[in-house]
Amino acid sequence: MVRNIALSEVEEHGPNHQDPWIIISGKVVAFGTYKDEHPGGEDVILEWAGKDGTKAFNDAGHGSSAKSDMQKYIVGEFEGASDVAAASSETAPQEGEKKECSIQ
Ligand code: HEM
Repeated sequence: MVRNIALSEVEEHGPNHQDPWIIISGKVVAFGTYKDEHPGGEDVILEWAGKDGTKAFNDAGHGSSAKSDMQKYIVGEFEGASDVAAASSETAPQEGEKKECSIQ
């Protein structure tokens, strides 16, 4: 199910997490299985794990099949989605500590 995910939770799924997450175009994408299959390699996935990789994803020149494949790995909506297009990961808003949906 798609749910809202806060930046703090995305950051927990960084490069050392078994299921790294990356924010791409306002969606939170899980790379637990796909990082090993990614044609562009695992390194770029780990580089952006826990962060907003929208620009890197777009700059990589992914084709339409890569974009549709990505949909399969979406685990939720990033809470700051409306600001993501313009903002970098450093400036993305962190509205309080919303932990109510957290599954640790
Ligand atoms: C679920 C999300 C993703 C999917 C489905 C995906 C899929 C693909 C595919 C199919 C290719 C081969 C070229 C193509 O057909 O476009 C590729 C290449 C590449 N991907 Fe991704 N990708 C994803 C996420 C990312 C992310 C987050 C990055 C971060 C930078 C990235 C960076 C690259 C790069 C740099 C290449 C080029 C590799 C080369 O030219 O040798 N990808 N990806």
